[in-house]
Amino acid sequence: MENISQFPDHILLKVLSFLPTKVAASTSVLSKRWEFLWMWLPKLDYDSRDCTKYQSYKLRAFIEFSLPLHRAPVIESLRLNFSTAPGYPKSFNALHIEKWVLIAVSRCVRELSLEFYPLNTQPVVLPSSLYICKSLVTLELTDNIMVVVPRVARLPSLKTLILRRVWYSDAKSLGQILSISPLLEDLVVERNQDNDKINPLALSVIVPSLQRLTLNIAIGSSFDGLVINTPSLKYFKVKVYRNEVYYARDSDHQYESYSYDFEEMPKLEEADIESSYPDINKFVRSISYVKRLSLCICVNAEEALYGEGIVFNQLQHLKLCSCYLNWSILLVRLLKDSPNLRELHVYLKEDHTRSCLDPLVCWEDQLDCVPECLLTSLETFKWTGISGSQEEIDLVKYILRNACFLKTATILFRDKQEMMIQELSLCVPSSTACQLFFG
Ligand SMILES: *[C@@H]1O[C@H](CO)[C@@H](O)[C@H](O)[C@H]1NC(C)=O
Ligand SMILES: *[C@@H]1O[C@H](CO)[C@@H](O)[C@H](O)[C@H]1NC(C)=O
Repeated sequence: MENISQFPDHILLKVLSFLPTKVAASTSVLSKRWEFLWMWLPKLDYDSRDCTKYQSYKLRAFIEFSLPLHRAPVIESLRLNFSTAPGYPKSFNALHIEKWVLIAVSRCVRELSLEFYPLNTQPVVLPSSLYICKSLVTLELTDNIMVVVPRVARLPSLKTLILRRVWYSDAKSLGQILSISPLLEDLVVERNQDNDKINPLALSVIVPSLQRLTLNIAIGSSFDGLVINTPSLKYFKVKVYRNEVYYARDSDHQYESYSYDFEEMPKLEEADIESSYPDINKFVRSISYVKRLSLCICVNAEEALYGEGIVFNQLQHLKLCSCYLNWSILLVRLLKDSPNLRELHVYLKEDHTRSCLDPLVCWEDQLDCVPECLLTSLETFKWTGISGSQEEIDLVKYILRNACFLKTATILFRDKQEMMIQELSLCVPSSTACQLFFG
């Protein structure tokens, strides 16, 4: 300790900032010099993980005592993670957290992360001063926290907003917090069943500055349509599942009331879309600029998949999940419409089971001529979890025989398929440089 104590204060603060706040504060017993040093720590991190009931009382008492004494003019970050809150409500309750957030806001907090679990208890209602906090750059809220946007509100520096399973006071709350954040670049919204019973949310994301959007909507959550207008978006990940039974109750057209409106995203680099909602036609145009695309969607083969004239000129990497019926029809259509595709990966998401009714239907009927990407650009082809039906093997052979620039083809069977492997090894790829891997 003697040696360390010779360092200047700013170095010691660096050292302390790597310790959990409580440990850092405990250095104050070491000497006079250390006594108040921790009060200048710019990052505060409190976590009730692994606490017993008694320890969480102590932790709460410690925060109550120390936070008001904190001296740094700017709190770089405040993280409160009470995802496990033994001893609730005496240890931590909504009022404590509201008070501590108020202190952080008065110290120009830049990053605020709150996680509060005990559900079915009073949610944390954040103080209205948070919604006019000029310094706030990152806001991350998880679980039992209520978003209530006051009438006068503005978050001029907010770049990252993460809302996981939180409550909203009003169906429009999400739209409101987005509309007061003119610099927002990164948005994550997660919804689950619990918090939807109270208010179905208007999932309307209209943010000109947004670059990254992640939406995760679980089965059973209800919302009044999905509107996305984000012209600067580069990364888009959406997972939307709807509870069909719930909607079937009041109408035959289960999806009719569900509006789905995506505007164009001309800067899109990567999209990952997983949805039980069947109509790719509704959003295909807005994602047609994408470079990397991962799809797991329900394919409605009775109608045309999507309108003519859509070309994925920039698309280089395509990943397609094979869990829905008729996915191969979508594959063929995308091959035809992606003239510069370099990498194709067919796979099965871990938690998805393929329907045992899955005949790989009529992909050949959809092909009048060899897709351009096979003739000019496809270099990598991978199929994991292939079950080995004759139609599947025929599709693999078709790609091997027609892809002139293929460098590697990897076919991984779900179960042992000696016969099929043998049949495939006899197939001579059109590209002589192609390396084949089976397993
Ligand atoms: C909070 O702690 C839990 C349990 O340790 C952890 O799983 C979770 O990721 C943490 N949350 C945040 C926002 O760091
Ligand atoms: C799959 O495609 C076949 C042939 O186009 C069609 O008859 C069948 O209805 C489709 N199945 C579904 C679930 O769309």
